[in-house]
Amino acid sequence: MNTQVKTYLVSGGLGHIGSSLITKLLGSGHRVIVVDDLSTQRFSSLFGKFHNKNFYFINDTLQSKLVVHEIKKILDKTSNNLDAVVHLAAQTNAADSFDREAELKKNNIEATHAAIDISNAANCTLVYPSSTSVYGENSDRVTEKSIVNPQSPYAESKIVEEKLVFENSSMPIILRLGTIAGPSTGMRFHTAVNSFVWKSIIGQPVTIWTTAYDQKRPYLCLSDALNALEHSLSSKTQRGETYNVLTENSTPRAICEMITEITGKFEIKFVDNRIMNQLSYEVSAEKFRQTGYAATSNLRKAIGDTIEFLKNNKH
Ligand SMILES: NC(=O)c1ccc[n+]([C@@H]2O[C@H](COP(=O)([O-])OP(=O)(O)OC[C@H]3O[C@@H](n4cnc5c(N)ncnc54)[C@H](O)[C@@H]3O)[C@@H](O)[C@H]2O)c1
Repeated sequence: MNTQVKTYLVSGGLGHIGSSLITKLLGSGHRVIVVDDLSTQRFSSLFGKFHNKNFYFINDTLQSKLVVHEIKKILDKTSNNLDAVVHLAAQTNAADSFDREAELKKNNIEATHAAIDISNAANCTLVYPSSTSVYGENSDRVTEKSIVNPQSPYAESKIVEEKLVFENSSMPIILRLGTIAGPSTGMRFHTAVNSFVWKSIIGQPVTIWTTAYDQKRPYLCLSDALNALEHSLSSKTQRGETYNVLTENSTPRAICEMITEITGKFEIKFVDNRIMNQLSYEVSAEKFRQTGYAATSNLRKAIGDTIEFLKNNKH
């Protein structure tokens, strides 16, 4: 059990990353305040949490005026200040964002303004999870210094929010996360690895963009993402910096082969799609590695864990 109990605000804490992060932080003995509007209906992330005296849930949008008041009430009751805000609240479906651009940008940008205000008022660190999708069509090997080239409204919003965080937060850390792979109670299935595994489990063909089959992209196993977030909450990561975070670069072909190896069956249907008319690129996570962080998982394990979770989870 952790000797130094910290108080963390996790916005969007019921989602794919958040549901596992809050379990991990509570497991280490920390106090966790989750603000989530349940817009994605991840009620399951709350199951089994309410017995924990260190867990507080505010069911609202982060940008609601009432949220600041609710957070203050909790902090007054526990005589604590916030040690950090991990701002995971966002609409996150990149492919869908072409049809819902205005709504997504409004929600995500307003929520990020609120996260900045809350963390500045508490004089604490703000961890902002951006995405490696900001690089879009790019050169062979991408670092934090490479130009950004977003290919969806979702990725455009990430760039706007990064700038807001960078310019207005007093203690920002920006993590450009690769696409998450691996199970959690609040998991979603929009993204490459998880959607492929899902289709394989329900016995339907996986739809893959022809041009994308051999394109390298950065992926991040959920366990590595959680370690990266914890690493950022420690004093090891420089405030005011942007870091790429990933487990490995891989291709849809390699991912399909891993799923086939594990499940023994897998059907692919090739199609064309506007979001994937891009070049292959790899992302370097060297800058984050130099802060002492090491990814320890791999895509094969995350895929195996997801298959196991979907087949055998008893809860
Ligand atoms: N999962 C990935 O592959 C990935 C990769 C790169 C970056 N990210 C970023 O990490 C963050 C978390 O991702 P995730 O996969 O856990 O997302 P998710 O969609 O699974 O969870 C987001 C949560 O935020 C909540 N939410 C949305 N808008 C809100 C608002 N205004 N106020 C309160 N709650 C709100 C939703 O109800 C949901 O529970 C997002 O910013 C996402 O863009 C995710």
